[in-house]
Amino acid sequence: MTGWLDGYVALVTGGGSGIGRAVAERFVAEGASVAILGRNLEQLEKVVADSPDPDRVFAVRADVRDADALHAAVADTVARFGKLDTLVANAGIWDYKRALTRLDAAELSTTFDELFAVNVRGYLLAAEASWRELVKTRGSIVMTLSNASFYVNGGGPIYTASKHACLGLMRELAFELAPKVRVNGVACGGMKTDLRGPESLEMQGRSLAASFDKRPDDLPPPPIPLHDSSTDPRDFTGSYVLLASRAQSGPITGQAISVDGGIGVRGFGSAAGGDHL
Ligand SMILES: NC(=O)c1ccc[n+]([C@@H]2O[C@H](COP(=O)([O-])OP(=O)(O)OC[C@H]3O[C@@H](n4cnc5c(N)ncnc54)[C@H](O)[C@@H]3O)[C@@H](O)[C@H]2O)c1
Repeated sequence: MTGWLDGYVALVTGGGSGIGRAVAERFVAEGASVAILGRNLEQLEKVVADSPDPDRVFAVRADVRDADALHAAVADTVARFGKLDTLVANAGIWDYKRALTRLDAAELSTTFDELFAVNVRGYLLAAEASWRELVKTRGSIVMTLSNASFYVNGGGPIYTASKHACLGLMRELAFELAPKVRVNGVACGGMKTDLRGPESLEMQGRSLAASFDKRPDDLPPPPIPLHDSSTDPRDFTGSYVLLASRAQSGPITGQAISVDGGIGVRGFGSAAGGDHL
């Protein structure tokens, strides 16, 4: 095996589906052993069973809001694989772009508390549970960020604020944990995943993938410069491998790589400047 992550050990929160699962599978293909953490043990065990090398994938049931469970998950990962090189902080939920004007004050409060507890506190608690092991290996943290870490309208105010908060968290931890632990992010654009909504808005049963399936064929192309960019999470995993690898990105910390079809270079007049090409 000669991958970019040969012999690495990673812990991926939200590793049972979506981009977390895709990253876990890619890390295994690159030579790593991976603990996948989530709330749904059955889903996690299916990822293990589907792996071409199930001995290098380990399912851990935990809620990212539970600090003790995260500490136990790190301890179990080290007991199973001997160390921890990479934390991929990734588990999250979306607000389905629920606008401020469509929330009353009570909904706003409960949804904020739930979504920030998962998306922001969950990243912080995972980092807290992991940093001691990461110092030992001179490892790193890779956070799943979003186009919503930089731009509006990728969520409602609560999701957008949460992903901006994660960007700040990534930068602050990159400073605090340097020089021994690097901290970076991958700011993903739209992917066809099982991303769910908050229980506070009774949206836990909604799945983002369904809205991709409902998209009519005659709809204009997505408003991103790379109209034909893939939405398959597996096509978003390369930057995670790059940032996890000491050999490939040893001097990089405090940075977010945007993998979003070029939203950041979009002009005001049209989504793409090259439609006439
Ligand atoms: N899908 C997109 O278009 C998109 C775009 C940008 C960023 N993201 C981000 O990607 C990350 C992963 O989401 P996804 O799109 O792969 O969706 P997903 O629902 O497939 O994956 C999220 C995973 O996190 C788990 N999870 C949720 N709450 C949890 C909790 N409290 N404790 C433990 N596990 C929990 C879920 O069970 C699921 O397995 C999120 O942080 C999301 O904000 C997604």
